[in-house]
Order: sequence, then C-alpha cells, then structure tokens
Amino acid sequence: MDARDKKRIKGECIKLLREAGCDESVVEHCIAVAELALKIARRHYDSVDEYQVFRGALLHDIGRARSHTANHGFVGGEIAKELGLEEPVVRIIQRHVGAGITAEEAKEKGLPSVNFIPETMEEKIVAHADNLIDGVRRTSIEDAIEGFKDKLGDAHPSIRRVRMLHEEVMGR
Ligand SMILES: [Fe+2]
Repeated sequence: MDARDKKRIKGECIKLLREAGCDESVVEHCIAVAELALKIARRHYDSVDEYQVFRGALLHDIGRARSHTANHGFVGGEIAKELGLEEPVVRIIQRHVGAGITAEEAKEKGLPSVNFIPETMEEKIVAHADNLIDGVRRTSIEDAIEGFKDKLGDAHPSIRRVRMLHEEVMGR
C-alpha cells in the first residue's frame, strides 16, 4: 500500500463511518487505531494483509453509530454486512472488542452464541492496537489492563486474554 492508496482508503472509510452516524470522536479514534495497527503490521509481520488491517482498523468501531456497549463489535459487523463490506473486514469488526468475546460471554450479552475471538493475525493486530489507544492517545498495555480491571473486575477472563494477545502480537 503506497501513500496514495492509504490516503484513498482512509477517505473512503471515514466517509462510511460518518454516513453510518459515528461521532467525530469515534472517527478520530479509528484513525489513531488504524495508524498504530498499520505500524505494528509493517514492523512485525511480513505476511499480513496491510489493506485488511488498515480498512478493518479504520472501520472497527462503526458499530458505535448504534451502540456503545460491548455489543458494538457485533452491531458493527451487522452494519458492515449491510454495506456489503468484505468478510475479512466484517470479522475484524466483530472480533475487536478487548481480546474478543467467547460464545458463552456473547450469549450472556444477548448476542448469538458465537465465538468472537480474533483468529487471523489481521484480526489480532486490530484488537491489540485498539487496546493500546485510549481515545486518540497511545497508552501502555499495563494502563490498558488497569482500565479493563476497573470496568470488568480483576478476575474477569478478558484480562488474561488481553495480556496474552499483547504477548502474541508483540512478542516476536
Ligand atoms: Fe471498539
């Protein structure tokens, strides 16, 4: 992806976010996550699909047009399907919340009992980059984990998954 491609994709995705009804704060957050996700992909991985990472990261919070709960990943996937977006991007959106949501957790949240844990490296990179961006600011994994503990409680299984995702994505 050259600079021109990148600029074009960014413009297209920002337009989709705005048309879906996302606030400008969500748009700015998505841009920050996409820049970091692309940097991680380029620095650490030769074989990931940069386009998928960048488009998926730019659109990861499109669900926030309709929901700000942990269900916004699922909701975003539905919006992305309505827009006819490609399956890999739909999956990145659905699986980006924290380090993903298990089928059991999804069911508790009133979602279909489907596993929304990131599986491909593109999905993992976007979920991880999102954990490291607080608003538009880069944060540390420790601060990110503290934030999850405040929200979910120290013992929530998500905490361990967020740390493992960090180790897997960055630890090479
Ligand atoms: Fe999100």
